[in-house]
Amino acid sequence: MSHKLSLREVTKDYHGVRVLSVPELDVREGEFFSLLGPSGSGKTTTLKLIAGFEALTTGSIEIDGRDVAPVPVEKRNIGVVFQNYALFPHMTVAQNIAFPLETRRVPRPEIARRVAEVLELVDLAPHRDKNAALLSGGQQQRVAIGRTLVFEPSLLLMDEPLGALDRKLRQRLQEELRALQRKLGITVVYVTHDQDEAMSMSDRIAIMNHGVVEQLGAPRGLYDRPETLFVSNFLGDNNTLRAQRSSASSLRFSDGIEVPAPESAHPAGAALSVTLRPERVALASPVSGPQGASRLRGTVTDAVALGAITSYSVRVDGIGDLKASVQHSGGDYFIGAPGDEVLVGWDVEDLHLFADSGGVLDAGLGDD
Ligand SMILES: Nc1ncnc2c1ncn2[C@@H]1O[C@H](COP(=O)(O)OP(=O)(O)OP(=O)(O)O)[C@@H](O)[C@H]1O
Ligand SMILES: [Mg+2]
Repeated sequence: MSHKLSLREVTKDYHGVRVLSVPELDVREGEFFSLLGPSGSGKTTTLKLIAGFEALTTGSIEIDGRDVAPVPVEKRNIGVVFQNYALFPHMTVAQNIAFPLETRRVPRPEIARRVAEVLELVDLAPHRDKNAALLSGGQQQRVAIGRTLVFEPSLLLMDEPLGALDRKLRQRLQEELRALQRKLGITVVYVTHDQDEAMSMSDRIAIMNHGVVEQLGAPRGLYDRPETLFVSNFLGDNNTLRAQRSSASSLRFSDGIEVPAPESAHPAGAALSVTLRPERVALASPVSGPQGASRLRGTVTDAVALGAITSYSVRVDGIGDLKASVQHSGGDYFIGAPGDEVLVGWDVEDLHLFADSGGVLDAGLGDD
């Protein structure tokens, strides 16, 4: 199968320091593909290499099956939208959108037709003759997107395009952008460090860390089957606990408590970091008993009602502090107040086991 975009053995060094190493990465035709990772993980560098703004140190990049190395930036037919979209403030909305076509010497009537089309697409037709500087942030961003779509790029690269906008507007533009991308069937490589944004918009996500892709897959798969501790903790909330492999089917926490655990390649005695999602922790009053396989005793230390869920902190004997989010389904949900005793449980498969790197954990065991 031919891919829209392929990176092979790509590396990038700055002043002799390797900041990116991507042995293999394929983006499919029509895919919404995100690069997600913390600051400095190499997301923007990857985009710049694809766009041709920076030269590769080694490796090759193919678009539509052709090596782009000999193709100059302006001939790559790639649309690029950055966070700090630079519109021409003294031009109207329509003039801004027409600009890329004028530099390409497209005939006038054709320009008029395509600009009108794009104005409809990005929902700015009523604002066509307004000065770009007078638009709201969201409108300006839509002009920037429109200006890119107007020359029908074969690939659209976006680097935190919604980063400067407030949350409400960002969510709306996320939906609009995704709808537009589906409608046009355009291939998008989208950079963000916002996990919710990546999860809600992407067909697939490459999770980047320190210049490498830690894991690549569909959002749900990454969330449910993280292959590294970093991925597990970067996507969504987690409890991270330290434990030891005690047998092929169990693990032991520091003060001797033993619980059933999924199979893994870790040998008996191996030090592990164990992650458990808060929404996978079941709480119950000591009378009714928990639903999960494990039954441990704990004490509620905090309970915060957040609308659809309540977020609990529970001190579990022999393990430490666990976060638990309990979904309210109808009137049938557990409410515990600080100081209340509870039973705590989870399904064995909800524990994710990783070899303990020995580093300091962000979240994890309580002090006692
Ligand atoms: N021109 C440059 N010269 C030297 N080092 C650079 C240059 N550009 C990027 N780097 C380094 O490369 C690494 C990756 O940077 P990059 O901009 O790709 O990160 P990022 O994932 O986009 O981060 P952010 O989320 O902060 O935008 C960083 O360590 C950065 O300091
Ligand atoms: Mg960046």
